[in-house]
Amino acid sequence: MAFAQRYPQEESLAWFRDHVSSGKAAFFAQYGMEFVPGRRDGVHIWDAGGDRKLINCHCNGGVFNLGHRNPVIVEALRQALDEWDIGNHHLISQPRAALARRLAQLAPGNLPYSVFAVGGGEAIDFALKLARAHTGRPGIISARGGYHGHTGLALAAGDAEYRAPFGPMPPGFVQVPFGDIAALSTQIDDDTAAVILETVPATLGMPIAPPSYFADLRALCDQHGALLILDEVQSGLGRTGTVWAIEHWHNPDQDGAPVEPDILVTGKGLSGGVYPIAATCYRAELNKFMHDNPFIHISTFGGAEVGCAVALTVLELTAAPAFLQRTNQLAERFASGFRHLMARYPETLVETRQLGLMIGLVFPDETCGPLMTKLLYEEGVLAIYANNDQRVLQFLPPLIMSDLEAEVTLAALDRALATQSRLRGWPIIH
Ligand SMILES: Cc1ncc(COP(=O)(O)O)c(C=O)c1O
Repeated sequence: MAFAQRYPQEESLAWFRDHVSSGKAAFFAQYGMEFVPGRRDGVHIWDAGGDRKLINCHCNGGVFNLGHRNPVIVEALRQALDEWDIGNHHLISQPRAALARRLAQLAPGNLPYSVFAVGGGEAIDFALKLARAHTGRPGIISARGGYHGHTGLALAAGDAEYRAPFGPMPPGFVQVPFGDIAALSTQIDDDTAAVILETVPATLGMPIAPPSYFADLRALCDQHGALLILDEVQSGLGRTGTVWAIEHWHNPDQDGAPVEPDILVTGKGLSGGVYPIAATCYRAELNKFMHDNPFIHISTFGGAEVGCAVALTVLELTAAPAFLQRTNQLAERFASGFRHLMARYPETLVETRQLGLMIGLVFPDETCGPLMTKLLYEEGVLAIYANNDQRVLQFLPPLIMSDLEAEVTLAALDRALATQSRLRGWPIIH
């Protein structure tokens, strides 16, 4: 019997409310968005009742870059299960070796080593541990409104709102505004172990840093002996039309080569949407500490062997030049659609932020992001506002979307913008 029939929608809602999260259940009930995902395929998800279909332009921040249940990925997992399982994290591993080698080949710069994790937060935690261990310094600088996960050190690098209920955090963390090199230069000093940033901060609403930002940041880090950690958990793996988003920022001192981080973190899309895996990739110099302490950071399920098989397949699909070319073509299709929509609704859609298919749609005020989420849901598209700047709707189409699906998505956006524009004309009664 299919899973959807074994666990009908109504029961699932009640069981979720009573046994998983009463708060989430109440939240979605309040907004009339009690969607229980059932069948899923390509760019679509259907509710468990089967009568509502959504185009997924949320993509779990990139988990579904290659669509839902991409057949090539599912087949890779099936084949891996014929031979492998989780593996033993203490032993030498064929799949981990192969995946780390492939990541090194594709990395933006010389990052020959990888440590694997189950999720992005864990991989960020390891990046920060390694930075502190390597430099012997405590200081970590991150961006205000940035997001690196809700685990230990990742949480400490995030916003106060998420930290406050949990008591004292480890010392040494400061935040600066994203994209402002002058602000960063007042905080970085010889106690700084690392600066950690998302290359394109998704939860902050996809602000795109100025062209010189990352090269200047690289120079500033070098000047102070601090490491540069890039979080490409959302922005990596083809999302911006290049394998890594940092490839869009060049270093004038190095013949325009892309800016190179010391540590790069990838996750989400690496899972192919079917098997959780994340990785922290790092420079050879940083390996001295790990060489001397090979058992100091352990994760039983990090780099599970069947997950490595999936991740290798994700990399194979994603790094193919034709795939990236298609992503850029689709990005251009959306860009021209947005230009048209901005001209139609100039007071509603006030700005678009776009790097490939990493897109933030900006509205006039903070009520608009949540409202657009609901209006688009009613029009058959799932896209969720940026939590740390609610004027912005995060808009992440699956990279495998067809031209026809892009047209359907843009038409839904057009209808939602028309409604939003009408609603904004209403008087507000206080
Ligand atoms: C940029 C970024 N870094 C890290 C994380 C944390 O990843 P995870 O939820 O897999 O722990 C996320 C999750 O949304 C993210 O968007």
